[in-house]
Amino acid sequence: MIKKKLVFSGVQPTGNLHLGNYLGALKNFVSLQKEMNCIYCVVDLHAITTFQNPVELRKNVLETVASFIATGLNPSKSIIFNQSSVSGHTELAWILNCVSRIGWLNRMTQFKDKAGSDREKASVGLYIYPNLMAADILLYKATHVPVGADQKQHLELSRDIAQKFNNDFNCKDFFPLPEPLIPKNISRVMSLRDGTKKMSKSEESDYSRINLKDSADEIKKKIKKAKSDSDQIPDNHKELVQKPEASNLLNIYSEVSKISLEKVLNEMCGKEYSFLKTKLAELLIDEITPVGKEIKKLMEDKSHLEQILKKGTEKANIIAEENLKNIREKVGLI
Ligand code: TYM
Repeated sequence: MIKKKLVFSGVQPTGNLHLGNYLGALKNFVSLQKEMNCIYCVVDLHAITTFQNPVELRKNVLETVASFIATGLNPSKSIIFNQSSVSGHTELAWILNCVSRIGWLNRMTQFKDKAGSDREKASVGLYIYPNLMAADILLYKATHVPVGADQKQHLELSRDIAQKFNNDFNCKDFFPLPEPLIPKNISRVMSLRDGTKKMSKSEESDYSRINLKDSADEIKKKIKKAKSDSDQIPDNHKELVQKPEASNLLNIYSEVSKISLEKVLNEMCGKEYSFLKTKLAELLIDEITPVGKEIKKLMEDKSHLEQILKKGTEKANIIAEENLKNIREKVGLI
């Protein structure tokens, strides 16, 4: 039997998407919509696992939609909607809470990172967050999930949950085991201030990341201030192993310029990192500022963005309801 391929992915509306989201996820979303049916979700219910100001949250949901469109997603090709508007996500999440095991959740490194040292004070939602993520994917029986490397463990859990459901309810192949699609060359864009940490919306210093809405000037300043290395650029990548910041800048350059890292090192070896930084800033200004301008323009017409969500919700609901009917039946719910 040939299984129909279906792509699902989600992005949290927690403000200011950055270069990590762009290279790790959004660019992939756009290229996949050319070959497969795709569903892209603004995961507002995931966002509220840590407190969100309601006014900001509403704005951020629309801004995430604007970012999807500005990077090239086409709402007449891909389904674009927000998670809370399709109630099947929470219904399936509950069912999967009863399939998933506490021991599995206890292994999730993202929970440990986000909850920090005072785990007792983290919300229950943050703890069971990966089960909701599995529900997002399985509700549509998605086969492929484009994400950055930081989501790999959550994807593995989704596969375990799908497998256990299929076993428990004696329905082999009912849920497909979703395949992660992780970019090969740059699966984790690192912070510009500390090359051992991923670039993230939650890091305090704005100098740690390039935001999609940054101006040319901001990009220039951030790249200039980015940590690099006092040695010259080496001629092979083995010498970059102990130099995470230098390695990060070179990887970003290679990814955005579409020139292999080997070739970049061939061309730049022996030069100071300031040389790379000037070229990288120019490249990022060309790539990112048009996206930022488009996001701002799209945000001027909020009703257009709401309309995109409304249409996407209608389409998503049809698939979700059909699948939920079968899921309820498998579980024995009337
Ligand atoms: P979120 O909102 O943190 O990030 C959205 C996407 O961006 C990727 N990403 C990165 N990639 C490379 N380098 C980085 N520094 C970087 N930072 C973020 C993430 O891997 C992600 O692909 N749990 C998810 C959202 C989610 C989801 C889903 C994803 C909810 N349900 C179902 C896929 C399928 C999250 O918090 O992503």
